[in-house]
Amino acid sequence: MKKWKELYRKKLTSIDDVLKLIKDGATVVAGMTPMEPQVFLSEVHKVNSKNVQIFTCLNMKPYAFFLEKAYEPNITNNSWFYGKPNRDALKEGIRSITYVPNNLHQAGTDLIAARNIDFFVGVASPMDEHGFLTLSASIVYEKDILEAAKTVILEVNPAAPITHGDTSVHITEVDYILEVDYELPEVKPVQPGETEKMIAYNISELVEDGSTIQLGIGAIPDAVARLFKDKKDLGVHTEMLTESMIDLFEMGVITNRNKTLWKGKFVCTFAFGTKRMYEFVNSNPGVMFFRGKYVNDPYIIAQNEKMVSINTALMVDLTGNVCSESIGPRHYSGTGGQLDTHRGAVMSKDGKGIIALKSIAKGGQISTIVPVLPEGSAVTVPRQDVDYVVTEYGVAHLRGRSVRERAKMLIEIAHPDFRDWLKKEAKKLGIL
Ligand code: COA
Repeated sequence: MKKWKELYRKKLTSIDDVLKLIKDGATVVAGMTPMEPQVFLSEVHKVNSKNVQIFTCLNMKPYAFFLEKAYEPNITNNSWFYGKPNRDALKEGIRSITYVPNNLHQAGTDLIAARNIDFFVGVASPMDEHGFLTLSASIVYEKDILEAAKTVILEVNPAAPITHGDTSVHITEVDYILEVDYELPEVKPVQPGETEKMIAYNISELVEDGSTIQLGIGAIPDAVARLFKDKKDLGVHTEMLTESMIDLFEMGVITNRNKTLWKGKFVCTFAFGTKRMYEFVNSNPGVMFFRGKYVNDPYIIAQNEKMVSINTALMVDLTGNVCSESIGPRHYSGTGGQLDTHRGAVMSKDGKGIIALKSIAKGGQISTIVPVLPEGSAVTVPRQDVDYVVTEYGVAHLRGRSVRERAKMLIEIAHPDFRDWLKKEAKKLGIL
């Protein structure tokens, strides 16, 4: 309709004018990962203001505002989840980045409760004739923040898919539009090695036909999906939609028909893959994007019977504490939706919360099953929540088990080179 087109035109602006809006002390929240506002984040270091607080999640690019020391006094990147560029900043000793501890389903609402949001800067698909845009492939926190922010700025990108679910935003809710034209970030499926395949085999044995699954990112989940090809009627309720799920859908393994919540639909809060993924979700009524506070709410997840969450970790101690986000005090990634999805699966009728990891790291120098977590480690899944731990050597079902039983079961699935050491340490600790 002409009216909406005129309104849209009035809201068009330039990046230079956007930067002038950001004053001292501003709180700015940016869209995440596939929907990262790349033009804004590439230029924001040029603002001439002090104490600008930017909130981001899993940055895809090495943006100057947190990687160049010169901007340290003016801008802080408050990150809900670290990716490689964020770890690089830490390595360089740059202090303009800090982690915000969170369960992903509460990231947006916790922030809204903690401070006023001045700006939301996101990415949207082009406007339709009724004046609607969509927040495209991510509404983890984006829509809640958009509704709470004083000023809404959207980068409108023709490459951004038009998605179904709760993603629509009307032009009347938007203050400024930047028209952009860049490729969306891509993550390629990982080729699993022999160890990943053995872990995947052990997991696959735990997943019954008709289960609803959540998969995390990386080589283990990709290997797992390959082994699901003979399963029947799997469903998806996941934080992140992955490309391996499209493979399983095309093979007829994922039908979503057995789901007890949102029967027939994929449910996710963001999608991340290659171009194929963005084409798959584009105008696809079989894929529902809902807010992270809904999709990742453990009580919602638990409404899916036979819900299985599959996540990976860096270390597990002999009592069952899982660390997936730090190496000692060095922050590595984030909690993300790991605890959300794990808890939801554990609460689901006949559900399973699976934590999978390789038994060794650093070329075999260290065991990932450890007597105690190193000082400064973050506990991502506490031992009172842990359910299944899987390595290439087997499965330890820890839920309901004593510390002594857990230690024995975990030592059995540890790498053989470290089993004697683990026994000795467990005895010293008084666990065995
Ligand atoms: N001690 C020290 N270093 C270790 C280690 C250990 N126990 N285990 C792994 N590492 C090192 C690896 O050598 C590797 O180092 P590099 O970066 O120098 O190569 C690095 O840590 C990452 O290990 P890797 O096994 O390649 O990790 P990954 O890419 O498969 O990611 C997690 C694994 C756990 C970090 C990741 O899944 C994560 O962040 N999870 C938390 C969030 C989550 O699960 N969300 C789920 C919903 S999407």
